[in-house]
Amino acid sequence: MADFDVIACGLNVVDNVVVLPETVRRNEKHQVPKMLIQGGGPGANQACGLAALGWRTAMLTRHGDNTVSRIAEAEFARHGVALDLVVHAPRARPALAVVEVDPSSGERTVFYNVADYDWLSADDVPEAAVKRAKLVITDGYEATAALRLLQLARACGIPGVLDIETGEPEKVRPLYAAATHVIASLEGGRRTTGCENPSDVIAAMGQWTDAQRIVTDGVNGSWASTPDGVIHQPAFRVAAADSTGCGDSFHAAYASALLDGFPLAERLEFAAWCAAQVALALGARTCLPTRASLRSSDQSLLSPALQRLLRSARLSPS
Ligand SMILES: Nc1ncnc2c1ncn2[C@@H]1O[C@H](COP(=O)(O)OP(=O)(O)O)[C@@H](O)[C@H]1O
Ligand SMILES: [Mg+2]
Repeated sequence: MADFDVIACGLNVVDNVVVLPETVRRNEKHQVPKMLIQGGGPGANQACGLAALGWRTAMLTRHGDNTVSRIAEAEFARHGVALDLVVHAPRARPALAVVEVDPSSGERTVFYNVADYDWLSADDVPEAAVKRAKLVITDGYEATAALRLLQLARACGIPGVLDIETGEPEKVRPLYAAATHVIASLEGGRRTTGCENPSDVIAAMGQWTDAQRIVTDGVNGSWASTPDGVIHQPAFRVAAADSTGCGDSFHAAYASALLDGFPLAERLEFAAWCAAQVALALGARTCLPTRASLRSSDQSLLSPALQRLLRSARLSPS
């Protein structure tokens, strides 16, 4: 089996994304201007984001003998994600989601169903592949496999990046402890800590983990723990068409910048820049940044420090 830079494991979804009409009339039919079916889900989008940025990335999930699994596979292949670690279980089916996009703000409301989802067990996590990897990335949905993956990564001395956006506090707290980088949506962080504002959430997360702690809140940007207090990274202002997948792209880009050796402030800025590009089009994976697209993007709004790093970074990993 090939070596992978990144092993990604987390919720794997097929999204049906629909832009809502200005007015929705209950119990009537509406022809809508835009609708698409696309691979989605935090863990799966993070895998695609890292593969798009050039990292050899393998997705760890279960697929079965059904159409939804075939769609998910085709979507992974489209972005260059390796399927070598996919576990075959005949009845396993990725989650399904309906994503409703508000045409005026680009904000999305997600409805998802995991009825036939066949969650991974700890034994599905391939120890040998983790030992040869450079980073693992996972989310709070696949909690059992995520815990094993993060613990193995820690034992191997490689970073373990964790996305927390939901989940029972008792279930996700052990994940916090095992991760080296925790990125929580503000809502997820609030749910685990019971605190309200980002700085308090970040401080409270510190009781369960020695990880780098980050909280994101959509257009309000992101916050991160440092030894000298909490720092803030604003979101880049764009004409957002659909914010689906912004968070996942943020995570993937943060992990990519970590692999590239960027300092914290520039990791956050790079992540916010990549995430903003995902908001420009409908769907989480339509505008995933690649090294080539970043090279030709307008970098004038970036800090001099990040511009310097982007110039010196090879912008294409080996
Ligand atoms: N509409 C948007 N325009 C520009 N950047 C955005 C937008 N929405 C999110 N982002 C960026 O993505 C990051 C993560 O988004 P967030 O909505 O907090 O994650 P999630 O999708 O997981 O809830 C934000 O901190 C911000 O940098
Ligand atoms: Mg998210």
